[in-house]
Amino acid sequence: MRLQTLLTWSSTLLAAATASPVVAPGLDLCPNIRRGVASRTVYEFPNGSWIENIAVRANGNLLVTRLDTPELYEIDPRNSATAKLIHHFTGYTSLLGISESSPDVFSVAVGNLSLTTGGRPQSFAIWTADFKGKTEPKVSKVTDIPEALLLNGVTALDRKAGTILVSDSALGVVFRVDTRSGTYTTALEDDTFKPPANASSPLGINGIRVVDGHMYYVNTLRPLYGRVPVDRASGKATGPYQVISTKIAADDFAVDRKGTAHMAVGVANEIAKVRPNGKSCVVAGSPGSKLIAGATSVAFGRTREEKHILYVSTSGAQAWPVNGTYTEGGKIVALEIH
Ligand SMILES: *[C@@H]1O[C@H](CO)[C@@H](O)[C@H](O)[C@H]1NC(C)=O
Ligand SMILES: *[C@@H]1O[C@H](CO)[C@@H](O)[C@H](O)[C@H]1NC(C)=O
Ligand SMILES: *[C@@H]1O[C@H](CO)[C@@H](O)[C@H](O)[C@H]1NC(C)=O
Ligand SMILES: *[C@@H]1O[C@H](CO)[C@@H](O)[C@H](O)[C@H]1NC(C)=O
Repeated sequence: MRLQTLLTWSSTLLAAATASPVVAPGLDLCPNIRRGVASRTVYEFPNGSWIENIAVRANGNLLVTRLDTPELYEIDPRNSATAKLIHHFTGYTSLLGISESSPDVFSVAVGNLSLTTGGRPQSFAIWTADFKGKTEPKVSKVTDIPEALLLNGVTALDRKAGTILVSDSALGVVFRVDTRSGTYTTALEDDTFKPPANASSPLGINGIRVVDGHMYYVNTLRPLYGRVPVDRASGKATGPYQVISTKIAADDFAVDRKGTAHMAVGVANEIAKVRPNGKSCVVAGSPGSKLIAGATSVAFGRTREEKHILYVSTSGAQAWPVNGTYTEGGKIVALEIH
């Protein structure tokens, strides 16, 4: 996307955020990290870039998507002098969510973002990047989703079957996509997915993660964090929707088997930890800090040595500049979480 378009998109989001009570409240620092967490910038892209999402390969390498240009990169966080361009998705403006849909195959939401609607109708699709046993990954389209308005979060539903769930922030629905056959259906739809009726930007359901039979989800502008039990085959709800917190306007997040989440709170330049009972605290960052300016997503390392490392992607605070003025290049930061 051209910079001007991106800036307009950003200020649309900004208007929505400042006009509604979504700015994260002053959460306290988590008690166990009063002295802060060790951090390291793994890789920083040029000023103006926006890293939207992150996934970790079994070999420990990071896959990161860019919103400002339709590109997927691979970064070795142990040797991160470079980011390797995996694919330029010609014909789109942006990449959004990414998730491992079957072993070493990653599904990505791609499409066009525009000023007024957030997403351009008839532009969204799901693609995969297949890294299995190959020297060069094979990148191919799974399916267009023409009725989508703003595909955003992607999570595996059943890795054996290669099925995923994909959130649409503007429609307020979750699609189930079979990445092998290319078929898709609307699996979930609920009032808690919808953008607030009066928000100036259609940003409802955003990050989604399926863990232990539940889909956990964030609605950014509502704001709301909740979960619903889902059927592994159909993706349909098998029980009631449960609200966990209404305090944090987050983007994407990671959640463990016990239901504890680490969330990227881009509006506050923070990572928040949210327990299953909704109790929340700040793990890293602060509203005036550039440590993780404009956090967009998080993912824990997968190798034994890196399981305690939380990788954070950032937008460089382009939507909500730090202190109202400071922006920088989107980056990947490693935080040591114990
Ligand atoms: C939207 O409506 C809610 C509830 O009536 C109100 O608190 C909020 O300020 C409104 N936001 C905007 C952006 O008008
Ligand atoms: C999406 O954006 C690309 C690149 O700007 C453009 O070529 C394409 O026509 C757009 N597609 C739609 C459906 O808007
Ligand atoms: C934001 O403002 C605070 C308070 O004045 C200051 O300490 C901090 O360094 C500023 N942040 C940036 C990125 O300039
Ligand atoms: C990034 O670019 C913006 C817009 O040109 C500028 O205001 C800002 O100072 C730049 N940030 C850095 C860290 O150079």
